[in-house]
Amino acid sequence: VDSQQPDLHSARLILRPAGPAFAQALLCYQQRNCEHLVPWGPIHTELSSAQAFLAGRANDWGEGRGASYLLFLREDAETVVGTASLFKLERGMMQGCTMGYGIDRSLQGTGLMREALAALIGLAFGPLGLHRIQANYQADNVRSAALLERLGFAIEGRASQYLFLNGAWRDHVLTALINPDFAWADPP
Ligand SMILES: CC(C)(COP(=O)(O)OP(=O)(O)OC[C@H]1O[C@@H](n2cnc3c(N)ncnc32)[C@H](O)[C@@H]1OP(=O)(O)O)[C@@H](O)C(=O)NCCC(=O)NCCS
Repeated sequence: VDSQQPDLHSARLILRPAGPAFAQALLCYQQRNCEHLVPWGPIHTELSSAQAFLAGRANDWGEGRGASYLLFLREDAETVVGTASLFKLERGMMQGCTMGYGIDRSLQGTGLMREALAALIGLAFGPLGLHRIQANYQADNVRSAALLERLGFAIEGRASQYLFLNGAWRDHVLTALINPDFAWADPP
């Protein structure tokens, strides 16, 4: 695995490694998408908290804990239009991680999120050599459900009161994608 987290590219997007330099851009993205994002995950309201969060995410790659990205349209390197990340990366017998994502409301329904996640899955199953990616959503998040289905994720179960989000414990549907070409780099 590269010592530096790589940029990822898709037809219309550049995915840049998350880092504190993007704190203001992330805050702008989350503020203008507040109502769109808050039902499904926490957002930052202060620059300092966005900076601290992004500093943590920037460390994840080096520590083997994940890979967080900010999404930019190819023609605009300034404006964050979404996020996509791998977190809770675990080696050993698991060789898996969890995936999270979101896209600007104005770009929803354009296939951009799918494009970004295809690139991220390529990283997970290619250079990172993982066996499993998990992704979880609330049952009423129909767009998230459809997106994961299109990407080939299979429903594996349901977890009650799985995450405390937007003021209450929320049930989640649990899905996963298995790497058909997985090979042990270093068998346990
Ligand atoms: C969940 C979320 C990322 C889904 O985004 P999305 O835009 O629906 O997902 P996709 O990128 O797969 O886009 C699919 C849509 O683009 C359309 N589309 C248009 N052009 C396309 C193209 N070139 N390629 C593929 N799809 C295209 C598809 O027909 C589909 O439209 P439809 O849903 O109206 O049928 C988005 O709703 C979101 O950010 N929600 C808030 C945050 C959130 O819920 N995060 C996940 C928590 S679990």
